[in-house]
Amino acid sequence: MRTLVIGSGAREHAIVHALRRSPSVREIYAAPGNPGIAEAADVLPISVDDLPSLAEAAADLRIDLTVVGPELPLALGIGDTFAGRGMRLFGPTSHAAQLEASKVFAKEFCLRNDIPTGRARVARSRDEAAAAVREIGLPAVLKADGLAGGKGVLIASDQEALDEALAVFYEERRFGEAGEKVLVEEFLEGEELSFMVISDGRRFVPLATSHDYKRALDGDQGPNTGGMGSHSPAVLASGLGREIIESVVRPTIAGMEAEGRTYRGVLYVGLMLTAEGPRVLEFNCRLGDPEAQSILLRLEDDFGLALKEAADGNLSRGAFSWRREAVACVVLAAHGYPGKVRRGDVITGIDDALTMPRVTVYQAGTARDDQGRLVTAGGRVLSVCGRGANLADAVSTAYAGVERIHFEGKTYRTDIGADSLARLGGS
Ligand SMILES: Nc1ncnc2c1ncn2[C@@H]1O[C@H](COP(=O)(O)OP(=O)(O)O)[C@@H](O)[C@H]1O
Ligand SMILES: [Mg+2]
Repeated sequence: MRTLVIGSGAREHAIVHALRRSPSVREIYAAPGNPGIAEAADVLPISVDDLPSLAEAAADLRIDLTVVGPELPLALGIGDTFAGRGMRLFGPTSHAAQLEASKVFAKEFCLRNDIPTGRARVARSRDEAAAAVREIGLPAVLKADGLAGGKGVLIASDQEALDEALAVFYEERRFGEAGEKVLVEEFLEGEELSFMVISDGRRFVPLATSHDYKRALDGDQGPNTGGMGSHSPAVLASGLGREIIESVVRPTIAGMEAEGRTYRGVLYVGLMLTAEGPRVLEFNCRLGDPEAQSILLRLEDDFGLALKEAADGNLSRGAFSWRREAVACVVLAAHGYPGKVRRGDVITGIDDALTMPRVTVYQAGTARDDQGRLVTAGGRVLSVCGRGANLADAVSTAYAGVERIHFEGKTYRTDIGADSLARLGGS
């Protein structure tokens, strides 16, 4: 197959890497890619939101399968654009991608399909939001309806925080159109977990479990980020995966089909494990980043073939096989992340890290400067992954790789996997 990967982050670098290991894949293009992806694929200078140019390029290159990394092109309707031209694409149509693109749609979908989730109200004005909070009670969670780059959720623990949150939505209007409708949701207590499957619209295959780290600082302190690390497998109570499949995944895939929004692609379920059982926090319509970096390194099957089958509505396998190894992923971020980041710091040592047998480095916010040097060019710069016989090995291999790589302002968490290791040790 000739394949095209859309996106430019470490997740897309990991997808390209998994396609390279796929016997069914002969050629890989990427748009727009990054310097790391350019070493493994032919990159095209087309941005992820330029749907007509992406479709034109896929047609010209006679691409057999296009794989979409990020949510934006899916929400914009790249699935519809490609389907309209009879071209195969792995990812949901814009109708199906509403599960991620509208938190109000997702909530109402859960309620009408008996999928367990927190109580919520939809508000269209400050007064409605205040009334909704009076009904739901404090603490409450306020969510912008539309895509907000992972920054559209505010948690109000008391009246003061609520007034601030309401000002963000209705005075500052920080989220613009995406924040015109606000979902006011009950605050759920428990541990967070995500769960991903690949669906062909009717059948689905679970991906390996993973754990991700969203906060900037060790010990889950500091601001939220796009993700500072991950590991796979996650340490889960036995039977939990099955429970999530039966109570959430199966009714979601079936409900979407019944509502005429057949869901083909990755379904990512964000959950809170409450005392009453798992509750849906949100859906995403693509692989998690940095979860994908850890998960895909463990995949033994032909990834390209599985995505082709899913795109065709024709998944032939009931399960994937996974290396009986662990993978840990540590994200190296630029100076200032997740605030305003500095660009142009020279990166060295990636080749050195790659001489280590179980280390893989995926690139994200990187660029070549006018002298051809690799430099920082975004918040999350690299994902350094280590494989090992168990989680402890994987973590120490990943951090050994991290030690080899240098750039001014390099920031990362030093405790990826520590909570899971403590749990394994304590059980
Ligand atoms: N009802 C809730 N109760 C408690 N925490 C929540 C709730 N909803 C969201 N959160 C927290 O906010 C984070 C972001 O919310 P989420 O719905 O995943 O939106 P997004 O990923 O688009 O920002 C979650 O990962 C979770 O930590
Ligand atoms: Mg989320």
